[in-house]
Amino acid sequence: MESYATVDGAVATSSFDVAVVDPELAVRTRLAVELSGAAQFATIEELVTNLGGRPVVAVFGPGFVSPMGFQHVHRITGAHPELGAVFAVDELSTDILQQALRAGARDAVVIGGEASLHQSVDRVGELLAGSTPRGQVAQVKETGGELGRLVVVYSTKGGVGKTCIAINVAVAMAKHSAAPVVLVDGDLQFGDVAVMLGLPPQHTVLDAAAAAQYGDMELVQQLTSRHHQSGVLVLPAPIEPMPTDAMLPGEMVNICAALQQVAGHVVIDLPAVQNDYALALLEAADDVLLVGNMDIPSIKNLKIGMHALDLHQIAGPKLKLVLNHANTKVKLDVKEVERVLGLSAEFPVPDDLAVPISVNAGIPVVLDEPKAPVSRALDRIALALLRQPAKTSKRGK
Ligand SMILES: Nc1ncnc2c1ncn2[C@@H]1O[C@H](COP(=O)(O)OP(=O)(O)OP(=O)(O)O)[C@@H](O)[C@H]1O
Ligand SMILES: [Mg+2]
Repeated sequence: MESYATVDGAVATSSFDVAVVDPELAVRTRLAVELSGAAQFATIEELVTNLGGRPVVAVFGPGFVSPMGFQHVHRITGAHPELGAVFAVDELSTDILQQALRAGARDAVVIGGEASLHQSVDRVGELLAGSTPRGQVAQVKETGGELGRLVVVYSTKGGVGKTCIAINVAVAMAKHSAAPVVLVDGDLQFGDVAVMLGLPPQHTVLDAAAAAQYGDMELVQQLTSRHHQSGVLVLPAPIEPMPTDAMLPGEMVNICAALQQVAGHVVIDLPAVQNDYALALLEAADDVLLVGNMDIPSIKNLKIGMHALDLHQIAGPKLKLVLNHANTKVKLDVKEVERVLGLSAEFPVPDDLAVPISVNAGIPVVLDEPKAPVSRALDRIALALLRQPAKTSKRGK
């Protein structure tokens, strides 16, 4: 989009108009310049008077970051479906983003920050012009009418390599697939997906939960950040740790469902918890990668956990065992592990020093050392998951 049309009827070269609203003239001018000439209004009332039925992206400046400001914006976003609100703020905290989303905004961007206001406005404008009704899930474009599969990476024991496996499998899938791959950090308390990918978190699952609560599934989809080396779209864990029961069991399932609309695969890394949160995701999953280590406590723990959760019952044939550190010379036979767990060790992943090295470098091992045996093993998991048939309906799984 080269130039923006303006609300008050100047050149209309774009499919949507752009307006800047802030009481301060200097702020309005700065934002309007950044947006290559948007219409400017000091008040919401002025903006409303000039609305002419065309889609409008309204950028609200820092003057609207107050309880009263959010309330005013909420009033007009509710009354004007042709209007897409974006907040341009001096500082962005999770709290401000949540309040902006609750006010019906589709994004919040820091003025002069890393994320470009221009890009955000374009994205919101294109959504408005595409007339996807607000509150409804966007139409499936990228996956050609099919729903992406939900891959849950899980274990009943911590520290077994779940996050490394989730990240590398997602990255390997993105390497082999044209459809988007989304990676969600489901560990609300100690989530380290963003750190392991060297990705500064912009929006998090907490923001996605707020957007989902307001029925804005398009916004959920827009909150992911792109990992440039792989193209994987990432939804990181909250910056401030939260207990897993801070989210209702179905909330994360809803977030994943919104992402499945636009992705070929959604991979979610879960913490080693056995509660309703984990159960809801295991039930919703199309594939469950159950991660175990080659040691007696890990296998015993997995066995007890599987029994307590009745995991065979919940996950059934979608349950696939990933035996991490499978080459470790311990007096434990893979056949014995398979017998105890009642699962075949479909995906052995060898122990490799390249993994902790890549973790510390913030580069997934499948990119850092693609020829290493561990990367080939992770690649095999990705290819097997990609071979599973796409879904056309959520029902009848
Ligand atoms: N195949 C492997 N070879 C060598 N080291 C590995 C391998 N897989 C994982 N690790 C190392 O094990 C450690 C734990 O891995 P990771 O954080 O992925 O486990 P986790 O199950 O997600 O842990 P948590 O339960 O704390 O979330 C990391 O330091 C990682 O480098
Ligand atoms: Mg982890």
